[in-house]
Amino acid sequence: MAVNQSKGRNLRVATELNELRQARCQLANPLGLVPTMGFLHLGHLSLVEAARRENASVAVSIFVNPTQFGPQEDLATYPRDLPRDLNLLEKAGVDLVWTPTPEIMYPEGYQTWVTVERISQPLEGAMRPGHFRGVATVVAKLFNALQPQKAYFGQKDAQQAAVIRRMALDLNFPLDIVICPTVREADGLAMSSRNAYLNHEQRRAAAVLYRSLQQAQALYDSGERNAEALRRVMRQIIEAEPLAKLQYVSCADLLSLQELEGEISGQALLSMAVFIGKTRLIDNLILE
Ligand code: PAJ
Repeated sequence: MAVNQSKGRNLRVATELNELRQARCQLANPLGLVPTMGFLHLGHLSLVEAARRENASVAVSIFVNPTQFGPQEDLATYPRDLPRDLNLLEKAGVDLVWTPTPEIMYPEGYQTWVTVERISQPLEGAMRPGHFRGVATVVAKLFNALQPQKAYFGQKDAQQAAVIRRMALDLNFPLDIVICPTVREADGLAMSSRNAYLNHEQRRAAAVLYRSLQQAQALYDSGERNAEALRRVMRQIIEAEPLAKLQYVSCADLLSLQELEGEISGQALLSMAVFIGKTRLIDNLILE
């Protein structure tokens, strides 16, 4: 019950790197880190809870990372509410929050990047050039600054989780990467800060992503093993929703993320990106 008693107390917030390093020194190990871009929802908080259970202390970063947004993407409008986020994190028993500015992360003259090669290229990487370079770079910087023993990511962003796992392995970061299940709304829509962009009609239409994944899962459960047949059923369901515009559907090998053709043998990842109005949503499901 020591954990509960400590809830709601002692949240430290650091912005500058020297403040952060000082605060980090005072945290007990093992430290669990939850990287976020803020505007927190229950998906983020599930990562914080997992970190709380498995570590002596918990740190959360809140940073809308400009280098992972493309020039036509939503950096300027990305939702933000720091006071609300800090209140939620304090209640969740977080010890330290880092809220760096873009100038702290990327000072004048910045020119060092982390590129994870093959696994960054398909799916989201193909649609969002440079996205995973931005993600891998900022996460490497978070790992260096905070030196956590464990770091927590969501299955919601399946390829991001795979890219970060690969990077941590390849660059010998001495930590465990923990991937937590996707938290969903009652109608199956995966929680996302970007859901805040949806109006009432769009919000209703957005349930089509998970519905299509479930239909493909049902087809798989009934014995269908052809990758294209699974993609076809997802495509049909999404195209039947007038407010949805499909960007891609995929049935890929879970480890390499290469698109599968013909029969599925090992584990597969079903995934998709769909525009509802101007809002781009992604979702995925693992076929065991
Ligand atoms: P953000 O979109 O804020 O997500 C932070 C973490 O929460 C990610 O690991 C993401 O996968 C996880 N997450 C988001 N929605 C979730 C849901 N419905 N269920 C479970 N987990 C969920 O992802 C990023 O930020 C950034 O790319 C970041 C890793 C912080 C690097 O800038």
